[in-house]
Amino acid sequence: MGKTNSGFVVVALISCFYLKFGSGTNIITPSKSIKDPEAIISEGGVFRLGFFSLANSSNRYVGILYNQIPVQTVVWVANRNKPLKDFSGILNLSSDGNLAVLNGESEILWSSNVTNSAPNTTIAQLLDSGNLVLYNGDSNGVNLWESFQHPSNSFLQTMKISTDVKTGQKVEMRSWKSPDDPSEGNFSLSLEPFNVPECVVWNNDQLYFRTGPWNGHIFIGVITMNSVYLNGFYLVADSEEKSYYFTFGLSNTSLVLYYELDPQGKLIEHQWDDGKGEWVNALSILLNDCDIYGKCGEFGVCDSTKRPICSCLKGFEPRNVEEWSGGNWSGGCVRTTLLQCQNDGFLRLETMKVPAFPDWSPVTYGGCEDRCMKNCSCVAYAYDAGIGCMFWNGDLIDVQKFPYGGVDLYIRLPSSELDQEKHKSKVIVIATVIPGVVGITIFALCLRCWMAKKRGSKQNSKQTHNKGNAQARFSGKDVGENSIQVKLQQQLPLFEFKELATATNNFHHTKKLGEGGFGPVYRVNTVAFSSRSMASQMTFLFVECAGNTR
Ligand SMILES: *[C@@H]1O[C@H](CO)[C@@H](O)[C@H](O)[C@H]1NC(C)=O
Ligand SMILES: *[C@@H]1O[C@H](CO)[C@@H](O)[C@H](O)[C@H]1NC(C)=O
Ligand SMILES: *[C@@H]1O[C@H](CO)[C@@H](O)[C@H](O)[C@H]1NC(C)=O
Ligand SMILES: *[C@@H]1O[C@H](CO)[C@@H](O)[C@H](O)[C@H]1NC(C)=O
Ligand SMILES: *[C@@H]1O[C@H](CO)[C@@H](O)[C@H](O)[C@H]1NC(C)=O
Ligand SMILES: *[C@@H]1O[C@H](CO)[C@@H](O)[C@H](O)[C@H]1NC(C)=O
Ligand SMILES: *[C@@H]1O[C@H](CO)[C@@H](O)[C@H](O)[C@H]1NC(C)=O
Ligand SMILES: *[C@@H]1O[C@H](CO)[C@@H](O)[C@H](O)[C@H]1NC(C)=O
Repeated sequence: MGKTNSGFVVVALISCFYLKFGSGTNIITPSKSIKDPEAIISEGGVFRLGFFSLANSSNRYVGILYNQIPVQTVVWVANRNKPLKDFSGILNLSSDGNLAVLNGESEILWSSNVTNSAPNTTIAQLLDSGNLVLYNGDSNGVNLWESFQHPSNSFLQTMKISTDVKTGQKVEMRSWKSPDDPSEGNFSLSLEPFNVPECVVWNNDQLYFRTGPWNGHIFIGVITMNSVYLNGFYLVADSEEKSYYFTFGLSNTSLVLYYELDPQGKLIEHQWDDGKGEWVNALSILLNDCDIYGKCGEFGVCDSTKRPICSCLKGFEPRNVEEWSGGNWSGGCVRTTLLQCQNDGFLRLETMKVPAFPDWSPVTYGGCEDRCMKNCSCVAYAYDAGIGCMFWNGDLIDVQKFPYGGVDLYIRLPSSELDQEKHKSKVIVIATVIPGVVGITIFALCLRCWMAKKRGSKQNSKQTHNKGNAQARFSGKDVGENSIQVKLQQQLPLFEFKELATATNNFHHTKKLGEGGFGPVYRVNTVAFSSRSMASQMTFLFVECAGNTR
């Protein structure tokens, strides 16, 4: 009886202590370590750092888990490649000022492995973002080490997937081997600058999946992104430092959502459903076989709605007919008739995933074709309002036909291969968001004027080659919708809703070119705007409805 009471008193004392020094529970100091099964919990209780096992394994790991979710959810693992074999593990700050996981024999299984000049004042703190940071109490604000810089398989809000071109340093996700083995699997996800930055999933050192270039709102090779971009994905580039990062933030703070690169190289979105008491999962990339890099080889095109999924682009035939018809498409396709350079033309392919490794130029819509035609090594081009012109030389690889979304890809063919159905009429491209409300204001935004102006100022401020320019333009801040609207409203003509409706035949689907981050894009004849002298000079327009609720 007396024993129970004193036990109670001790517990009460401990609670008092924790209440008074509540923030102490989210840190590890040189004098305060944690032993299996202890844990530290972030201030708001969102995450915990501690010891855990996985379903069918007796191995023990130290990692970060969601703390308030009843299903064990691991988002980061320290000793992923060297599990503890028993319950004698300890996580402490070692004498060299590093966070270390040690086993019962004081053998170091994992260490943060940084040089620390003031180990006595070092603190490791778990934040509510899920980031574990190591810093010196007296050095203001500079972290020695962060778990966000050394991700496992999870991508949390505010975490940055980054690449520094100068130092070659990358922060990338790395898949687990299997759901019950967190050691490094075959797949990683990183941000690749290329000529236009995009994210890439690697299968060891082989390109496995590419998202397609970033256009300021979405990756144009991920059709599912049309709906999620509103959740706040940003690709930010610093043209001075030549560093890029990709991150996301959720405007709805009650959403619990993160991304996992699973052991098969798929990126899964996990969203917690309180009602069901489980994670609701959605596949974000790698929806089907066509998404696997180079599925149909060079000059092949993949269409997941067709059987077989691979075919050769028009004007091409299988390099090896036997292999091709046997379902081995890796050999790709070759031209049936050689290009003549002067007399070639372009074939438009709609709703496409653009091929890998484009060259880039800020030339506007109308200029892409001229530019490509003039250079005999240019075999294709595409245009995206947020990117500019993309050109390809050499092989076209990883071309995919989407059921919707994507961009128009123009491939160069000798005139003999081209149908007569080639309309050479000048077009205006109008993007609009489906008008949900009647009587809404419409802004017609001439992106060309803006881009020309923008480009001018960028070139003035910094003389770099194209890439520098591209970087600046991909900054999330630069191309945010609001900023575009504000800047452009003054210098642009306004079109009445009625006019646009007439010009697009009431937004008829046959007038629709595709869909981008702004919404559907319509093709319109310049004649439709003949009442306006300036319209005929414009190559394309952007139209957006205020109060868009899609
Ligand atoms: C654990 O093993 C059981 C039975 O072998 C299996 O059904 C389950 O999927 C396994 N769990 C994990 C996470 O691998
Ligand atoms: C950390 O733990 C190991 C193993 O128990 C111990 O040898 C070492 O002294 C500890 N380090 C500190 C700074 O307490
Ligand atoms: C620590 O870092 C050094 C150099 O950065 C590396 O050679 C060493 O293998 C690392 N040690 C561990 C335990 O990761
Ligand atoms: C760290 O603490 C130890 C023991 O308290 C002391 O001997 C040593 O001088 C201190 N080192 C520094 C750099 O303050
Ligand atoms: C990783 O790749 C290797 C070699 O391709 C393969 O043997 C192994 O099964 C793969 N591992 C997983 C978990 O897929
Ligand atoms: C925020 O997310 C919660 C949970 O999914 C949802 O119930 C709520 O409607 C969302 N709020 C807004 C403003 O979207
Ligand atoms: C497919 O064809 C390529 C040559 O084009 C060959 O190297 C490869 O081994 C073939 N793959 C299979 C599975 O037959
Ligand atoms: C044609 O394109 C290639 C590849 O981008 C480039 O190296 C070459 O300089 C271009 N030629 C001309 C005349 O612009």
